[in-house]
Amino acid sequence: MALEPEREIEPTEAEIAVHWKEEEYYQPPASFIAQANLTDPSMYERFSLENFPECFKAYADLLDWYKYWHTTLDTSHPPFWRWFVGGQLNASHNCVDRHLPRYRNKTAIHFVPEPEDEPIHHMTYQELWMRVNEFAALLRDFAGVQKGDRVTIHMPMVAELPVAMLACARLGAIHSVVFGGFSGKACAERAADCGSKVLVTMDAYWRSGTLLDHKEKADIAVEEARKLGLQIEKVLIWQRYPGRYSSRTPLVEGRDFIVNDLLREYRHRTVEPVRVHAEDPLFLMYTSGSTGKPKGVQHSTGGYLAYVAGTAKYYQDIHPEDVYWCMADIGWITGHSYIVYGPLALGASTVVYEGTPTHPDAGRPWRIAEELGVNIFHTSPTAIRALRKAGPDEPKKYNHHFKHMTTVGEPIEPDVWRWYYQVVGKGEAVIVDTWWQTETGGFLCTTAPALHPMKPGSAGPGVLGIHPVIYDEDGHEIPAGSGRAGYLCIRNPWPGQMQTIWGDPDRYVRTYFAKFCKDPNSRDWRDWPYMAGDGAVQAADGYIRILGRIDDVINVAGHRLGTKEIENAALQVQEVAEAAVVAARDEIKGIMPELYVVLHPGHQPSEELKRRIIDTIAREISPIAKPRNVYVVPDMPKTRSGKIMRRILAAISNGREDVGDVTTLSNPEVVQAIKEIVKSGRA
Ligand code: WTA
Repeated sequence: MALEPEREIEPTEAEIAVHWKEEEYYQPPASFIAQANLTDPSMYERFSLENFPECFKAYADLLDWYKYWHTTLDTSHPPFWRWFVGGQLNASHNCVDRHLPRYRNKTAIHFVPEPEDEPIHHMTYQELWMRVNEFAALLRDFAGVQKGDRVTIHMPMVAELPVAMLACARLGAIHSVVFGGFSGKACAERAADCGSKVLVTMDAYWRSGTLLDHKEKADIAVEEARKLGLQIEKVLIWQRYPGRYSSRTPLVEGRDFIVNDLLREYRHRTVEPVRVHAEDPLFLMYTSGSTGKPKGVQHSTGGYLAYVAGTAKYYQDIHPEDVYWCMADIGWITGHSYIVYGPLALGASTVVYEGTPTHPDAGRPWRIAEELGVNIFHTSPTAIRALRKAGPDEPKKYNHHFKHMTTVGEPIEPDVWRWYYQVVGKGEAVIVDTWWQTETGGFLCTTAPALHPMKPGSAGPGVLGIHPVIYDEDGHEIPAGSGRAGYLCIRNPWPGQMQTIWGDPDRYVRTYFAKFCKDPNSRDWRDWPYMAGDGAVQAADGYIRILGRIDDVINVAGHRLGTKEIENAALQVQEVAEAAVVAARDEIKGIMPELYVVLHPGHQPSEELKRRIIDTIAREISPIAKPRNVYVVPDMPKTRSGKIMRRILAAISNGREDVGDVTTLSNPEVVQAIKEIVKSGRA
């Protein structure tokens, strides 16, 4: 791989030595250990590399199979691994039907509306089964959806979202859920990429006290998809309030249909779950990479479901009698794996909360936990930071008790971790800091909650059957305890690993394997470590601490965005000639984008222009992508080959006086000018 110019002169970000203060260990409470699913340390031996890949049979055996597989792992076409080959199953059957004999009358989904005076809907497994069947019948018989078809679902956090996903799964159709907060345009790009002719949406939903019109995004999505060459034939609209249409937009004749009306025709209709192969795709989840185009991460049915069921059982410690709340959005991978598929595969009760954590106040999550008897709580460091800031003592007012808490999505500062542990968890709960990605399907690194002590700020060792390694730039292993950081990789395949990027298998190989592949002609999985794209450091105890992305991806409040996507959106503004986005530290959101722009000649910076740029980004992508600041600068710091040195801009955005080496710049004088603009912009 060619070295980029700026890399010749200093270590890459991944290699920087890090000097943390070592944090103290916290032991899991005895009350937790007494009831935990994973208490036998020899499980780690059973999942050692010597026992790979057969060890993962233990996960597959958590599922119901119509037909058992004959080959655990087929490696004949690296790195396109195939798990549980020959097996047949259905995900909807595994998450719903098979629980009916024992749990028919038990809550599957607690739907908590944002308005506090609206009752919570406790949907039983029986009701979930009925709703999934009816909607599957509608999708099949009204919308013509068949096995292998893609269905785009652009919905808020309501119980109808898992119903729609499971209905697709029942038919063997591939769902592609787009985060509800994404724009109509972002939805269109994703639908067009996978050629989905059906869009499932909702008329409106509550967010921070406002009933937002969501159907208007569907109108934009259809229009934008048409420009990209995709005709969306049917828009299926759930009503937030059944019987009442809560959007200002008209229904387009022959295209827009109200699901709640259509369902009258499908009352009590049942659909046999379609038997699919273990390697048939279950869903696509679009995520940001280092180019402007989001990639459709494709997950399998058998491998993925086995992996999320296994990790939810052993690392979330989910038992069927637990009330489990993952306060994340189903529109991201966390929600797919650990709100929907993992907990439902295990027959748990899972909470779906519509709104923002701090609405109407920072006590809301703890009231919900108290009311529902939630005993497993899962959220992101951003939510924890926001709740701590808005209500540091709120959790003390409520009588909730967690046995287990999770953090996911971003590094958590040890100080924030301690508040989570002591105040939210009242010192009674075990915490797991789970590191993983959209591409990995489920957890890769975390402590085992009853076996390993916790260490604030560190994810922990690899989970069962996951063997992490940290490589330096040249592919040499960096030993644990050296204090040096490098590229976090996984030595071996695992069942939850993505299958490919939809429509772009080369990008899959390039992005995750090219850099550290030992032999491109080898069919031995040992030659194909998976490169995660994160920098990390491993302490002497084997615990891994994640430093963050080493590519052009930033993690804003745990939402993954590509800097290129934001830059492309800024370039839609006619005055903007060049745009560069960098990651700036933020007290609440962890990281926020800051945008630097150069204008075309003849244009002057103004507040109006900056606002227009920000609005454009919100419209093109989502309000979550809005930069914290926009700086209009005379020129970008560039190498002689014309590459923008984002590293220097990032140093300035993060208030570092020393921006590093500038001798390779073709225009070093611009650095001082930019520093002054940023300083006066902040003043
Ligand atoms: C980051 C979210 C630190 C990391 C599940 C990764 C984390 C990216 C952690 C994936 C963690 C995830 N500590 N950083 N526990 N978990 N990340 O695809 O940079 O939305 O590459 O998946 O989030 O984000 P994604």
